Amino acid sequence: MNIILIGSAGSGKGTQARQLVKKFGMAYFSTGDQLRLLTRKNTPLGREVAKKISAGELISDEIMEKILADFIDKNQNQSIIFDGFPRVLSQAEILKKRLANIGGVNLVIFLNISKQEAVKRLASRVICRQCGAVYNKNTNPPRQANICDRCGGKLYQREDETPQAIGKRLENFYEKTEPVIEFYRHQGVLEEVDGEKPIKAISAELIKIITLLDTEPN
Ligand code: AP5
Ligand code: MG
Repeated sequence: MNIILIGSAGSGKGTQARQLVKKFGMAYFSTGDQLRLLTRKNTPLGREVAKKISAGELISDEIMEKILADFIDKNQNQSIIFDGFPRVLSQAEILKKRLANIGGVNLVIFLNISKQEAVKRLASRVICRQCGAVYNKNTNPPRQANICDRCGGKLYQREDETPQAIGKRLENFYEKTEPVIEFYRHQGVLEEVDGEKPIKAISAELIKIITLLDTEPN
């Protein structure tokens, strides 16, 4: 089964994806995490990607398709949860092609939150430099300040958390990703969820949706 989590910056894609991976043991494809790993390499590609991410700009489809193809290759015969891909219509077409022989897209979950909520959450988010776990200083704090509960790694605020980059990321979502949501709604695979409920309530709702889908007769 292949599942996409889609939503604006700060909608909870990473938070929920990690819960689902734990529950269902799926492979986890987070384009943001994959790209941030690339930026740690001191290569021309790493530097190019870092510059774009810091400005909140999208990376080219060509680079994204290569990262996707490598991931699918390394995770054959596994169900995949996609976080951050596709986010433009051309990427939805790429994904259709790449998943054609391995089940296609079974479910797309749209985590819907307001722009104000997104901005509020991003201002107080911290993530683990080591394992990528996501926290929020207000709504989901770590047990010990600045230390990851899971691996003990240091927590930090992402480089694309400036007002300008957040503005650009949200603009990209409303202009380029909303058409992707409509694309999947049209195909009848979209489930829209209120992303402003508490984290645990949303996780329970997603687990219910996925469990139901998994037990449905084909
Ligand atoms: P990416 O890392 O995917 O960033 P994003 O889409 O902007 O989304 P975020 O990671 O900021 O938010 P999230 O939805 O994961 O929310 P989270 O769970 O952290 O991409 C980064 C960049 O990489 C892009 O801008 C682009 O440059 C590039 N890129 C990535 N994919 C690409 C692609 N396909 N093509 C081209 N370029 C690409 O939660 C946010 C905060 O809210 C946390 O603090 C969390 O604790 C809290 N929170 C979560 N849920 C709740 C809740 N229900 N109630 C209260 N607080 C909550
Ligand atoms: Mg994320």
